[in-house]
Amino acid sequence: MPVENVPLAEVPMLHLAGVRKGFRTPDGSERTVLEGVDFRLAEGEIVSLLGRSGSGKSTLLRIMAGLVRPDGGELFYRGAPIRGPVRGISMVFQSFALFPWLTVQGNVELGLEALGMRRAEREQKAAAAIEMIGLDGFEGAYPKELSGGMRQRVGFARALVMDPDVLLMDEAFSALDVLTAETLRSDLLELWEEKRIATRGILVVSHNIEEAVVMADRVLVFSSDPGRVRAEIPVGLEHPRDPDAPAFRQIVDEVYGLMTTSARAVGGAVEPLGIGYRLPDTPSSRMVELLETVADRPFEGRADLPALAEETELSDDALFHLFEGLKVLGFARIAAGDFFLTRAGFALVEAEPAQRKRIFAEHLLRSIPLAAHIRRVLDERRDHRAPEDRFLQELQDYLTADESQRVLETIIGWGRYAEIFDYDYNSGMLMIPEEEEPQPLADGPPAEAHG
Ligand SMILES: Nc1ncnc2c1ncn2[C@@H]1O[C@H](COP(=O)(O)OP(=O)(O)OP(=O)(O)O)[C@@H](O)[C@H]1O
Ligand SMILES: [Mg+2]
Repeated sequence: MPVENVPLAEVPMLHLAGVRKGFRTPDGSERTVLEGVDFRLAEGEIVSLLGRSGSGKSTLLRIMAGLVRPDGGELFYRGAPIRGPVRGISMVFQSFALFPWLTVQGNVELGLEALGMRRAEREQKAAAAIEMIGLDGFEGAYPKELSGGMRQRVGFARALVMDPDVLLMDEAFSALDVLTAETLRSDLLELWEEKRIATRGILVVSHNIEEAVVMADRVLVFSSDPGRVRAEIPVGLEHPRDPDAPAFRQIVDEVYGLMTTSARAVGGAVEPLGIGYRLPDTPSSRMVELLETVADRPFEGRADLPALAEETELSDDALFHLFEGLKVLGFARIAAGDFFLTRAGFALVEAEPAQRKRIFAEHLLRSIPLAAHIRRVLDERRDHRAPEDRFLQELQDYLTADESQRVLETIIGWGRYAEIFDYDYNSGMLMIPEEEEPQPLADGPPAEAHG
């Protein structure tokens, strides 16, 4: 872009085009975490970025801050290419590595010291930031004497004292309890609204949909594998926002709906799952509990997603894994911001315990190729046993070592619940449960596997 010819006001504060980033996995192959990321942050905007765990949000923020180099694409700060840390961009993290031997004042002054600012000026600026963020009276306190909320305020003061033009927040409130997070969030929004901070653009990475909608002018939904901006929802409500207002609820519903429609299902076609399918990280007991909860509700088998989030007290991320698990197994569906049970979901809830396990087993073998594969291997072996390492290695053709481990642990949990296989923690062996007469299972999943 010929930067000189664009009127200043139209040059975005941040501009990313086609950004790509991959990491080398322990086995030497490369995994693409970000691919084709396009993003703009205009002056005066707050933008939220929502996405599942591991989708690359933190990596993207670090790239924007100039802390990590992308492998491809272009990025600019106010029209100038970003090639390293940028003076006008500050980041706030989930938890701060505050220096325990420095006071609040000392911790806040640190960044200014690195700029070579004179002591008197440093002290005066730090004191102003401390006051602004509501820490006055605590200048001389040490981090260990502060609550989590206060410590996070020090983190904010440390970022704001640099007078950042752009503020990048990476789950800055997620380590705090609900009330503390709310207070700190509204304090920050007030500073922003009243222009008491120099910051002219904010990007908020969050796991929490309400938080994203409370803060942002636009909510971006990030996809996983590889991460890229998948959808955008404009918010367009005045600050301060009332989370109980119908207009607010409607946007939250819309975002929930988008978040629970996986990229796989977008565009109508549902790709068949492979052995390397990243099983959602959710225990089978939790899935069954949720089915029970929803089946009992007045609107039989149907529930508003945000209401479920509140009721279950699970994080949005945990809930999405839970929904995805129930969806791929064919026990629930999501549509228009509502969660509802399928016929199979009802059948499972209404069945006796033994029958429940049978229904679960049937769906598991039909919908999850990894479960069917493990069972087939065990069926075919003479002693009906196989070491977990064998499956771990197969999974590593598709997933990182950590992710393979997690996926295997998850499928073992589901398989044990369904009693399609058992696992011995001491020997690391998988086996067919003893009570059962082993009989070979039919080959391959039936045509209508899931949906
Ligand atoms: N330095 C690194 N080396 C290798 N892999 C990395 C590195 N940094 C991140 N990754 C991998 O990149 C993927 C994305 O990580 P990232 O932390 O950006 O995700 P995230 O969306 O911020 O997740 P969360 O919501 O859990 O914070 C993960 O699979 C992670 O393991
Ligand atoms: Mg992160």
